[in-house]
Formats: sequence, structure tokens, C-alpha cells
Amino acid sequence: MRAVVRDAAPQLDPAQVASMYERVGGHRWFEALVERFYAAVEADPVLRPLYPDDLGPARAHLTGFLVQYWGGPTTYSEERGHPRLRMRHARFAIGQAERDAWFRAMSSAVRAAGLAVVDEEAFLTYFDLAATSLVNQGP
Ligand code: HEM
Repeated sequence: MRAVVRDAAPQLDPAQVASMYERVGGHRWFEALVERFYAAVEADPVLRPLYPDDLGPARAHLTGFLVQYWGGPTTYSEERGHPRLRMRHARFAIGQAERDAWFRAMSSAVRAAGLAVVDEEAFLTYFDLAATSLVNQGP
């Protein structure tokens, strides 16, 4: 069975997910995370061709989505509706190489924040499961 992104949540402590937004520093922390992530995307030969020339909207959407997922304001869904990440990624060919490149870029962005180990682990576990759930191409 394929996991969907929300299914990643039960593997984490729900209280830890709900309180993460405030604990790490709110919107600005997520903006900085996504900034680091997209700087890595820009330099990545596997990922860069998948994204549009203008990374601005992608940055804003990912920030809003993560803020909402980790307990912050729900502006993302108010503006864009239900995340439906598998559906929104269906038009990109995501195989193991793309998944691994994405997770590599995001895990460096997470590690650069210097969070408490337990919080860092929660983000890495979530992104690992979420990225795997978006693979839509077989080997
Ligand atoms: C597995 C590798 C992944 C690849 C190759 C990938 C690639 C992409 C691309 C190309 C876009 C479109 C950007 C645009 O048109 O502006 C996108 C959008 C997005 N991605 Fe990913 N993605 C991956 C994994 C993930 C994961 C794991 C998450 C969440 C944890 C995520 C969250 C999002 C969000 C929220 C959007 C914007 C959706 C919207 O509101 O339109 N992606 N992704």
C-alpha cells in the first residue's frame, strides 16, 4: 500500500508535530528552511529541470504547506485547498533518483538549522516518508 503524506504523521508524536511551529521559531524559520532547500535545488542537476524557471511560487507554496503541517496557520489550504500532494506531483516523473535528490537537499537544509536532536529526527523521518510516498515511477 502506498503511504500518503498525512499517513506519515502517526509515526511521529502528534504533540511534537502540533507544537513544532512555535518551538522552532514560527514562519521565519520555515521560510529560511525552504530558502536553503531551494538553493540546493537550484544547484542540483536531477532536480532543477523538474522545476519552473521562477522558483518564487514553489518556495511560497512549500513554506505555506510546511507551516500548516507543523502546527502553524492554515493559510496554505485557505488559498490552495487540500494539499493532495500525490495528485499535485503526478505531472512530474519522480523515481528513486529524484526522491533521493529531493531528500538529500531537504535533509541538509534541516541539519543546517541546528535543532535539538529529537526535533531534527522528527523532520527527517517525516521528509523521508513523505518523499517516498511521492515516488510515481517504477525502477
Ligand atoms: C520526492 C521528490 C519531490 C520532487 C521531485 C518534487 C517536485 C516538485 C515540483 C517540481 C513542484 C512544482 C513547483 C512549481 O511548479 O512551482 C512541487 C511542488 C510542491 N511540492 Fe514537491 N517534490 C518532491 C517531494 C515533495 C515532498 C516530500 C513534499 C512535502 C513534504 C513536497 C511538497 C510540495 C508542495 C507543497 C508543492 C506545492 C504544491 C502546490 O500548492 O501547488 N514535495 N514539488
